[in-house]
Amino acid sequence: MHFQWYPGHMTKARRAMQEDIKLIDVVIELVDARIPFSSKNPDIDQLANNKSRIILLNKYDLADPEKTQKWKEWYEAKGFHTALVNSKNKSGVKTVANVINEACKEKIERDRKRGILNRPVRAMIVGIPNVGKSTFINSFAGKACAKTGNKPGVTKGKQWIRLNKQVELLDTPGILWPKFEDQTIGLRLAFIGSIKDEILNITELSYELIKFLMESYPGVLERNYELESIVDEIDALNQIAERRKCIQKGNEVDLDKAARLLLDDFKSGRLGKITLEMPE
Ligand code: G4P
Repeated sequence: MHFQWYPGHMTKARRAMQEDIKLIDVVIELVDARIPFSSKNPDIDQLANNKSRIILLNKYDLADPEKTQKWKEWYEAKGFHTALVNSKNKSGVKTVANVINEACKEKIERDRKRGILNRPVRAMIVGIPNVGKSTFINSFAGKACAKTGNKPGVTKGKQWIRLNKQVELLDTPGILWPKFEDQTIGLRLAFIGSIKDEILNITELSYELIKFLMESYPGVLERNYELESIVDEIDALNQIAERRKCIQKGNEVDLDKAARLLLDDFKSGRLGKITLEMPE
């Protein structure tokens, strides 16, 4: 299977972010808790060099709790401040203000020693498309927070959202495209729906998901679709098609329809809380 990106977009987005990051004290990076490694663009580490760093494991409601904990510890061991967030129902979102304070402790202390009191820290949200940046900004900032408008010394047109006395958030998130050399990362991004369906072979993609589930979450397909014991991925998809009445003209099973159904069930968490990768 072959995945393709759009280099024009990437260069432009990267350049914009390079400018924005100059204004920022702390970079808040969202990753998808189901693929905390594959949904992280490695360029950001270079772009955000010297800044305080926070990783939010977003959509943790869809991920395997035990594995999420391991990822949290893994990122903390690498020097990131972290939090688990469900931006959709806002759980964990309130803790982020404290995490920002903690991440910027040294800067606040430095300011204090120089007699600068109450200068808010400036934060920016970054992440690959579909990871939940806009949902997070909406639930974090809420309606109550006024935009602060342009200020001298700030790039024209930049809008800041005053979250509280301590924190200002750049209102436009930095978007970076996912990056990968190996196809496994591409597959995982496709499973969570971060690659447009129309460029993918859906049946093939669902076979890959079935192979992963059979190995890492044995029994999950049998339970969810009431299948007889599965021989392999082809057998599994056939059985799903039969169970869910995915039938086309001539009374044949409609594998494409069954594949879409399976991928959709996975994406929306109907198969349970599943994480697709573990820290190395
Ligand atoms: P982006 O700005 O990074 O591109 O992502 P965006 O906020 O648009 O979110 C992408 C999708 O992820 C949205 O779903 C959003 O509701 C969902 N989402 C964001 N955060 C969470 C979370 O913590 N948990 C869960 N379960 N979902 C989350 P959508 O299908 O595009 O829209 P909608 O049907 O939810 O409105």
